[in-house]
Amino acid sequence: MVQFALPKNSTIEKGKHFSNQGESKNIKKINVYRWNPEDGQNPRLDTYEVDMDNCGPMVLDALIKIKNEIDTTLTFRRSCREGICGSCAMNIDGSNTLACTKSAKEIKGDINIYPLPHMPVVKDLVPDLKQLYKQYESVEPWMQSEVSGVNGVEKLQTVEDRSKLDGLYECILCACCSTSCPSYWWNGDKYLGPAVLLQAYRWIIDSRDDERKKRLKKVADELKLFRCHTIMNCTNACPKGLNPAKAIGSIKKMLVSADIS
Ligand code: SF4
Ligand code: SF4
Ligand code: FES
Repeated sequence: MVQFALPKNSTIEKGKHFSNQGESKNIKKINVYRWNPEDGQNPRLDTYEVDMDNCGPMVLDALIKIKNEIDTTLTFRRSCREGICGSCAMNIDGSNTLACTKSAKEIKGDINIYPLPHMPVVKDLVPDLKQLYKQYESVEPWMQSEVSGVNGVEKLQTVEDRSKLDGLYECILCACCSTSCPSYWWNGDKYLGPAVLLQAYRWIIDSRDDERKKRLKKVADELKLFRCHTIMNCTNACPKGLNPAKAIGSIKKMLVSADIS
C-alpha cells in the first residue's frame, strides 16, 4: 500500500504560551498559527491568554490587543474593521470568516485561528492571494461598452436590470468562499473558483455591458468553470451571505442556450 508522509517542515508544532498575570476572571485562550519564512522553523501554534473584559467584542479586537500589548511580532491583515474591505479573512474556529465581524463570545472554549486554508502563507495569518487576483484580472472586471448613455452622460439601467446585480455587487473579494471549495483546493491553478466566478457573472449579467458573449466564452471551459461540482461549501462560507454557487449555476445555465461560437 502506498504510504504518504508530510514533509517534516509542514508539521505544526506547539509554540509559546503567553500567560495573563492579571486578576481577571474572563480570560480567553487564543491559539494562533505562526510561521515566519525567514527563521527556517516549522509553523507553530502560539497561545495567548487575553483578558476579554478589557477587549473589544470581535476576534479582530483580540488580535489587535495581542499585537499591541502582548506580542508585536504577530502578523495579520485588516483595514476597515466593519466587514467591507475583506482583508481580515481567516479561518476561525474551523470556518473561514472575517475576524472583524466574528464575535469572540460566540466561540465556546479556546479560539483557534489559522490563515485561510490551502493557500501559500506569506507570514502568520497572511495568505498569498496573488493567484486569485490574477484570476480576477482574467475576467476583466470592468464595464466594457462602446456606447455611452443619452447625451454622453451615464448609461441608465431599468430598476429590473439593476436588481439583477443584487447579491453580486456586495462581494468584497475576501476569498472565504474560494478557500473553502474542495475543487479550488485541488485545481486552484486552473479552476477560477467561486469568488472569481461570482465576479465574472456580475459583469455577464450587467445590462450596460456589451461584451456578454466574449465574457461567457472566456469562462466556458471544463476546468475554469465546470470544475464546480455544486458542493456548496462556498455559499456556506460567505460572511456577506452571498451565494456564489448560484452565480456559477446561472453561468452554466446561460451557456446552455447562448451562442458563443
Ligand atoms: S459549489 Fe462549486 S464553487 Fe462552491 S464549493 Fe462547491 S465546487 Fe466549489
Ligand atoms: S462571494 Fe462572499 S466569500 Fe466569496 S469573495 Fe465574495 S464576499 Fe467573500
Ligand atoms: S477589517 Fe475589513 S473586512 Fe475585516
